[in-house]
Amino acid sequence: MREDRYRMGYHLMPPVGWLNDPNGLCQFRGEYHVFFQYAPGFPASEEKYWGHYISRDLLHWQFAGTALSPDQSFDRGGVYSGSALVSAGPNGDRMQLYYTGNVKLAGDYDYIDSGREANVILTDSADGIHFSEKQLLLTNGDYPEDYTCHVRDPKVFFGNGIYQMVLGGRKRGLAEADASQREDRGAALLYGSPDGIKWELEREFQTERPFGYMWECPDIFPIDAKSCFSFCPQGLEPEMYRYQNTDQSGYVWLEDAQSGAVENNFTEWDMGFDFYAPQTFEDERGRRILIGWVGLPVTPYENPTVESGWIHCLTVPRRLTVRGGVICQNPVEELEELREQDQTWWGDGCVETGDFSFWLKTEQMETECWSLAFGENMFFKYENKVFTWAFANGKTEEEDWGRGREIRRMKLERLTDIQVLCDHSVLEIFVNGGSHVMCGRFYPEKYNAAERCTIRQQGCGARSVTHFWHMRTMEVMDNETAVGDRRGTD
Ligand code: FRU
Repeated sequence: MREDRYRMGYHLMPPVGWLNDPNGLCQFRGEYHVFFQYAPGFPASEEKYWGHYISRDLLHWQFAGTALSPDQSFDRGGVYSGSALVSAGPNGDRMQLYYTGNVKLAGDYDYIDSGREANVILTDSADGIHFSEKQLLLTNGDYPEDYTCHVRDPKVFFGNGIYQMVLGGRKRGLAEADASQREDRGAALLYGSPDGIKWELEREFQTERPFGYMWECPDIFPIDAKSCFSFCPQGLEPEMYRYQNTDQSGYVWLEDAQSGAVENNFTEWDMGFDFYAPQTFEDERGRRILIGWVGLPVTPYENPTVESGWIHCLTVPRRLTVRGGVICQNPVEELEELREQDQTWWGDGCVETGDFSFWLKTEQMETECWSLAFGENMFFKYENKVFTWAFANGKTEEEDWGRGREIRRMKLERLTDIQVLCDHSVLEIFVNGGSHVMCGRFYPEKYNAAERCTIRQQGCGARSVTHFWHMRTMEVMDNETAVGDRRGTD
């Protein structure tokens, strides 16, 4: 791959090819494992594998190659998304991976009601590197009859002596207004098991009226003495302040999912241009960490990194906490290690950057009207209780950092603090202690060490304090032979 100004310094991205959902997130024997949907042959091939990164500290990463390949009849169309379960066994801890084996049959099928298999598959490992033979646990015949072939993305967890697994799905349905019209609806299935191998359906999560036609990548996890149900509904109608991307992701409290009261209680995880398919895990320090895909299944623009043979990245690990009934997301504190050259000032100010690798943090804001401008090209604003991220368009391609994308909005009662994590061509912004978040890609063309971009912040209030750090690059080794040849024992 040629040198590319859009490669990031502290976000995980594929060494080459395509990345989408984070998978199998866990900490196993001290090491963090981040697997991800990986198509190394992209753009020529979209065949999905699980790529694999390992780290001790979330700062030094080893790319460990492809952990799972589509090499069985039941996953030959792709090793799709899934999760990891770390459990204590008689001979020490084990890492178990549950995933969807996708199969697309050749023929004249609609691939909704026929022509597609979605299998739940298990493979386990004693070292987090080498995986056992794959075991087929569930096939389409095991799901309720009113589900289409779209059932996938097992998230498995263990508690009170039982295993549970949630799967996302697409249920067949008819439109209320016109029963001759098909109207499928998103739903989720919760299974229980005494051993993690034999599964029984326990219950379904569904809504009275359709809330999207398919729910992908569900997750259930405990936080602050409650349970959160996270999922990705596809096909919600975009509105001015909600559901602004083609597919959504958010959460409700589990009790609302159980009673079907989803629509009015759904909180989107991230209001930016590019975010989807997040997954959470609990680390050995008891932190609940979320990582999302900075990308979407369908985007309205051509990502310019494709020319260089790669596409997409993951968010930084975000620590989840609850404040006032809302889940807040903040970058894990390990990332602070990468900060250097602190500049601090009170009130408004401006700085310059050439590489777009920085962390800006402003606190104690008192403002009704605020802005943060990146040159003449990209703007964040808070005005009339609405926070926006906008690209200047109507310019040449070089000046249009959004590649045709325009604006994302979120309602915000007040603005007290912000953190901007900017990394070459990805940006994550955490507002009001992380209760509101936006992330997405941007493509600044002309800047470099000599020609720098001015970042100007205005309207913060005189008592506000801003820190601006340059961010160092984290270490990512992609010499995969360093972890041994795993295929031999597969
Ligand atoms: C979400 C998703 C999952 C699926 C995977 C395939 O982005 O569509 O539902 O398992 O991607 O790559």
